[in-house]
Amino acid sequence: MKILHVVGARPNFMKVAPVMRALEKYPSVQQVLVHTGQHYDANMSQIFFHQLGLPRPDINLEVGSDSHARQTARIMTRFEETLLAQRPHWVLVYGDVNSTVAAALVCAKLDTPVAHVEAGLRSFDRSMPEEINRLLTDQIAELLFTPSVDGNENLAREGIPSTKIHFVGNVMIDTLIRLLPQARASTILSHLGLEPRRYGLVTLHRPANVDDPDMLQSIMDALQALARDLPLVFPIHPRTRQRLQRMAYAITQPQLRLIDPLGYLDFLALQDQARLVITDSGGVQEETTYLGVPCLTVRPNTERPVTVHVGTNILVGQDMPRLLHEARAILAGKAKQGEVPPLWDGHAGERIARVLVGGEGMVHF
Ligand code: UD1
Ligand code: UDP
Repeated sequence: MKILHVVGARPNFMKVAPVMRALEKYPSVQQVLVHTGQHYDANMSQIFFHQLGLPRPDINLEVGSDSHARQTARIMTRFEETLLAQRPHWVLVYGDVNSTVAAALVCAKLDTPVAHVEAGLRSFDRSMPEEINRLLTDQIAELLFTPSVDGNENLAREGIPSTKIHFVGNVMIDTLIRLLPQARASTILSHLGLEPRRYGLVTLHRPANVDDPDMLQSIMDALQALARDLPLVFPIHPRTRQRLQRMAYAITQPQLRLIDPLGYLDFLALQDQARLVITDSGGVQEETTYLGVPCLTVRPNTERPVTVHVGTNILVGQDMPRLLHEARAILAGKAKQGEVPPLWDGHAGERIARVLVGGEGMVHF
């Protein structure tokens, strides 16, 4: 059986790694890894292949950055050639980025079955590009692997037959569980002069937060205010860095430190020891829930409601007084307690492999 995986952006790499590792145990499976090149900076792509133990991609479509339509179209044109040449039995797509939907659309037109890893998540906010990508990919997919039961409910409501849907748990957490011991050996805290639980970690890259200069200014002003009470470290996404440069935003508070995006192990080490995390990332909402670290999400909604209902996540919206209020409550010792959601147990990749190829012929190591 030939299985072709398509990845392209930073959060895809943590998701594909456990699925590839699980499928390696089936001698009858041949795997092909395609990187679309949606993300291409060394610290947005290459470093993860090294740290996550991923093989070098068999094919890199090198699409780079562009408008949504152009980027999606370029992935489709180039991936069509790849698919015709490779003729896999299954194409696996991950998450909700443009690479995910572009590859799924190509497969639909060439009658190749698609399996969607991280299916069923819904923010119910169609102004988010990712929500459109999720809805369309799930309509195309023949197999839908969900990380939480809300995903199953959303898909059932959209009329997807239950036979196609498998609740397998969270592949991103598979990677976290595997690499947490290595992350705990990281020297990033001492390198940055930080003390465990005495700093906050920030990531922001959603267009709704960073593409509007007034919104970005109000978030940055709030971060500078909070940094007076708690040192903040902010590994900055290239989209956000560009926006701040364009605004010529000046940081006057030395306890707010902007640094380059980090590799997986250093970033996980910083999450693990943080007093709190402020983010608009999807994956970071999940990782903080697993780690039991308080997370304040700068969004009005989330496609990962389990992190709010079960985990440590609080949605503060784009309301900066609320962000500061919640952050100060955490500093005062009133942090939200959470639990780990069902099947976030390190074995989601194995469940996916079992559904795809069945239990037979598996070699146990
Ligand atoms: C993309 C995903 C988003 C995901 C995020 C993860 C879509 C629609 N968006 O957003 O869902 O949460 O990745 O990080 O697929 N850039 C670089 N170097 C890179 C990559 C990007 O400088 O290696 C800059 C480019 O100027 C580019 C901008 O970042 O225009 C945005 O990149 P893009 O991939 O279009 O969207 P992200 O904001 O990264
Ligand atoms: N991450 C990382 N380095 C960073 C910021 C994030 O390794 O500097 C990891 C993070 O731990 C998580 C993933 O990147 O595994 C989340 O990706 P991102 O926030 O870019 O995308 P999203 O999840 O929002 O789609």
